[in-house]
Amino acid sequence: MKTLLLGANGQLGRSLIEDGGLAARGELVAASRDGRRYDNLHIETADLSAPDSLSDLLNRVRPDVIVNAAAYTAVDRAEQEEALATRVNGEAVGALGRWAAAHGTLVIHYSTDYVFDGTATAPYPVDAPTAPLGAYGRSKLAGERALRDSGATHFIFRTAWVYAPHGHNFLRTMLRVGAERDELRVVADQLGAPTSTALIVAGTLAALDAWQTADAGQRRAVVGTHHLVASGHTSWHGFAGAIFAGAVERGLIARAPHVAAIDTSDYPTPAQRPAWSVLDNAGFQRSFGYALGDWQTGLNDVLDALSRQRA
Ligand SMILES: NC(=O)c1ccc[n+]([C@@H]2O[C@H](COP(=O)([O-])OP(=O)(O)OC[C@H]3O[C@@H](n4cnc5c(N)ncnc54)[C@H](OP(=O)(O)O)[C@@H]3O)[C@@H](O)[C@H]2O)c1
Repeated sequence: MKTLLLGANGQLGRSLIEDGGLAARGELVAASRDGRRYDNLHIETADLSAPDSLSDLLNRVRPDVIVNAAAYTAVDRAEQEEALATRVNGEAVGALGRWAAAHGTLVIHYSTDYVFDGTATAPYPVDAPTAPLGAYGRSKLAGERALRDSGATHFIFRTAWVYAPHGHNFLRTMLRVGAERDELRVVADQLGAPTSTALIVAGTLAALDAWQTADAGQRRAVVGTHHLVASGHTSWHGFAGAIFAGAVERGLIARAPHVAAIDTSDYPTPAQRPAWSVLDNAGFQRSFGYALGDWQTGLNDVLDALSRQRA
């Protein structure tokens, strides 16, 4: 199995490489926007803002599986750059899908809770009506549709509140800012499931393994869209509290700052975020026989990894 991984330097892309599971299943070819990996290794170049340029790389690599971890993820900036976000998150995904459909290649793609408007009060099932609140969500929904319309065999894994020991994420911001301040104000009226990249990697590999050993009928039953998120839910305020408690316990910070609960209206941002971002992940667990652990377990594992790095 030859896999082409796009977005090697993102939170998820880097975890997919560092985990080693994709490489262990065959040949792994990684690509980034500038042809450099996070550790300065020279890799392939794939710029999703130029969708027409992707076929050269695809024709040369001829992957059996494309894993697309690249995305325009600047949620607030997307309000000003919707055309670019749509090119990267929508049109480029369609181009990948069309090439894959013509070559019998499986596409594994990631999408987001932001395709929903967050007005629900129960976990969103996979087939719940979508209604993005902002440009980023619209661009990701365009990617989902383009991939479905391409005719490629695909998995779309919607995930949410992603964090890792590396990269730009809420956990790392909290640890940095929390070490500098006595008090932080964190939004308490947005709810979701903080999901570590380790869980997304493990879920992706479980799905890939299930797909590879399945017969044609079983494959037809499991391909399509799934929710790949941790189980349970909390608020950003709850997540911050758990981060500080776990960080103090492991000596990552000397003491926890006071975390004041605020409303979304107290912290206006250019892009509106869904208030309820909880995705029903039961279908994923049933389809692939893989249990998605709760968000607290994922957090403890990432804090343990950070304290091992410090040791
Ligand atoms: N982060 C979240 O909370 C979250 C929530 C829900 C869903 N998701 C989805 O999960 C997936 C992985 O997200 P992530 O958190 O790993 O994102 P990330 O850390 O922001 O990484 C995205 C990667 O995409 C690359 N990229 C951006 N524009 C590109 C372009 N034009 N051509 C090629 N590469 C480009 C970036 O490259 P550079 O390194 O060069 O900037 C970056 O390495 C994405 O599909 C995202 O939409 C994320």
